[in-house]
Amino acid sequence: MPLLAGRMAALGTENAFKLGEDIQICLDRGLDVVKFNLGEPDSDSAPHINQVGMAAIEAGNSHYCDPAGILPLRKAISRFIGETRGLDVDPKRIVVTPGAKPPISFTLMTYVDPGDEVIYPSPGFPIYESWVKFVGAKPVPLHLEEERGFAFGPEDLDRLITDRTKVIILCSPSNPTGGVLSEEELRGVAGVIRERCGPDVRVYADEIYEKILFDGAAHHSIACEEGMEARTILASGHSKSYAMTGWRLGWAALPTAAEAKIFKQLNINIVSCVPPFVQEAGREAYENPESQRVVDAMVAQFQRRRDWIVPALNAVPGMRCQNPKGAFYVFPNIAGVCEALGVIDAHAAMAPAARARTSPSGMFQMFLLYRYGVATMDRNSFGSIGAEGQHYLRLSIATSMANCHEGVARIERAAVDRDGFARFLEEEKLWG
Ligand SMILES: Cc1ncc(COP(=O)(O)O)c(C=O)c1O
Repeated sequence: MPLLAGRMAALGTENAFKLGEDIQICLDRGLDVVKFNLGEPDSDSAPHINQVGMAAIEAGNSHYCDPAGILPLRKAISRFIGETRGLDVDPKRIVVTPGAKPPISFTLMTYVDPGDEVIYPSPGFPIYESWVKFVGAKPVPLHLEEERGFAFGPEDLDRLITDRTKVIILCSPSNPTGGVLSEEELRGVAGVIRERCGPDVRVYADEIYEKILFDGAAHHSIACEEGMEARTILASGHSKSYAMTGWRLGWAALPTAAEAKIFKQLNINIVSCVPPFVQEAGREAYENPESQRVVDAMVAQFQRRRDWIVPALNAVPGMRCQNPKGAFYVFPNIAGVCEALGVIDAHAAMAPAARARTSPSGMFQMFLLYRYGVATMDRNSFGSIGAEGQHYLRLSIATSMANCHEGVARIERAAVDRDGFARFLEEEKLWG
């Protein structure tokens, strides 16, 4: 009898967490590493939020609480959804979760049977593909094209919908591309869903980057389109907007109170509840107007970095970088660099087992890290099904301008170091 259950082979991961091991090896060798890999704001949570959390602990608010989330926070979320989307969501339809990640697995466990089809963006947050496979569903990646600003239109979705489609995952603003779906695109997408899908097909709207939009753009949600509130699991949280990644606070607004009860039951089975003092701090984040001032300053800083780094990356021979409209990532196309350094040929020449362990962008990612001390994420870290021939890196701009300058200077040198790449392959043998 094998040690591990068969299903574990299907579980994927988020490489942004795994890369830490390689970074540590480089640090131990004395390399200083510029980190563009982390998907979290480089600021700390704001003092007015911290104080409420600490006061709640000191007041003894350190016990189990309502597994659906404390009512004052669910009411605050309901008001927040009203203000930002004009929807009137009963707090009974809201479930508070430890971060915005759990609602992804909750959705797949709740609605999807083995063999059902799930449409999700690729490149996209890797946990979508991981859980789609884990529940035995058929992954149906919706490939986002660089030429279209990593957005997609109703016709692209229309092509993928079948009578087995059960869940459609959307993420705007997007990790990793920074693409944003316009109101018009969302309207078209909603039209296709209404036309092609039965009322039991669910849309998962991952709106965790809702507050991080550039050039004064406003956030639009699919849930606001005609007939969509009744089909949409709207998920967001505090991690990105309020720089609260380590607090672990997110939420989902479900189409019905009955569905919310299932999410609550999943909380009971897995985490019991989100710590009440964390939830008090999260309530404060929504209710104190100071939060928006902090968010505005953070977004302005991300925008300044974007405005510097996009032209700088476009000036690197063989790189092409779109201007992201939101989130805090840039996603340059590195096909030209991979070609010039011989990465694509080197990948093609690998033994099959080694080749399957990496990709050209993964090889350039490791060359950058091990030889130039620049940590980035590769294309395949954002869903690998059908990603062959796509050569991209994700760089998080949630890092100082000084790091941006230093990191891009190193990337420029690496992008023309053909001999260095050949030596790196010889010396490191990372893929066997
Ligand atoms: C698109 C997307 N959804 C969900 C999450 C998870 O967020 P949290 O840290 O709140 O669980 C992330 C985090 O990187 C993300 O990028």
